[in-house]
Amino acid sequence: MNILITGAASGIGRGLALKLARPGVSLQLCDHVADGLMKTARRCDEQGAHAVPTVLDARDRQGMADWIATAAGERLDMAFLCAGITGGLPPEAEDGLVLEREERVREMLDTNLTGTLNTFFPVVNAMRQQKRNDENLRGRICVMASVAGFVCYPGTPSYSASKAALDRFIVANASRLGNSGISLTSVCCGFVDTAMVKQNRFAMPGLVSTEEAVSRILRGTLRQTRRVIFPAWLVLGSRLMDLLPPRLADWYYVTQPSAQPAGMPDF
Ligand SMILES: NC(=O)c1ccc[n+]([C@@H]2O[C@H](COP(=O)([O-])OP(=O)(O)OC[C@H]3O[C@@H](n4cnc5c(N)ncnc54)[C@H](OP(=O)(O)O)[C@@H]3O)[C@@H](O)[C@H]2O)c1
Repeated sequence: MNILITGAASGIGRGLALKLARPGVSLQLCDHVADGLMKTARRCDEQGAHAVPTVLDARDRQGMADWIATAAGERLDMAFLCAGITGGLPPEAEDGLVLEREERVREMLDTNLTGTLNTFFPVVNAMRQQKRNDENLRGRICVMASVAGFVCYPGTPSYSASKAALDRFIVANASRLGNSGISLTSVCCGFVDTAMVKQNRFAMPGLVSTEEAVSRILRGTLRQTRRVIFPAWLVLGSRLMDLLPPRLADWYYVTQPSAQPAGMPDF
């Protein structure tokens, strides 16, 4: 079994690697954070897996293509696309304007959207050349979107936009790629207790542990679920909020601590 994971230095990516690590499993691990990545790889090796860490920025299109062409080897069974960043609003400017910094917005879209596509296409190219297995599959691809992609959340506009685009792209392609033997799963979850949310300065309703998130993501991917959602009540609430006229939804959202300027790090 050969499995590829991006964002493997931390959080959900590392959790998936550790959950999957066992004898007979090769783990192709990538992140731009060398220390964390090596630590994940060491722990996977200790569990009997064969971990191959590669320090790489997901925004490097050619670098990702070259890495995946090698990492796929003779067969790539699964790929988990976890590399991503988040961020909120900066403090109010002197003239009263509250807007994410342009560089941060571009970084968010480059990492979460383009970086994921830089992984997705080479993975599809590798998988399409493989024979179908006894489940009639060539491979599985799981992409980390977010419940934030279901709403126009004023506290994290570019994060919401990047995750909405990812979820739509994956779910919209799931049927046709499924017919070609490549199973696609989009994960739209709420808060997971990882480094990504550690600096949030507000209560996080429905926060789940990394272990629980990893179990749900893995189960959904193995079952070929097109969209994995949790917690269900948060996703349902978000879906309902998005049916409201934007001004009405915004009237509620702007009262939330997480939507305040400097409510979460803007890096
Ligand atoms: N935690 C949540 O509540 C939550 C909820 C819904 C969806 N998600 C999504 O789940 C995924 C994993 O999140 P997580 O909570 O596990 O976060 P995490 O602990 O911060 O792990 C993400 C990893 O990806 C790395 N990364 C960032 N930009 C990269 C790049 N350009 N190239 C390669 N690696 C890069 C991060 O490095 P740095 O530490 O340097 O950023 C980090 O090591 C993300 O896509 C996130 O948006 C998370």
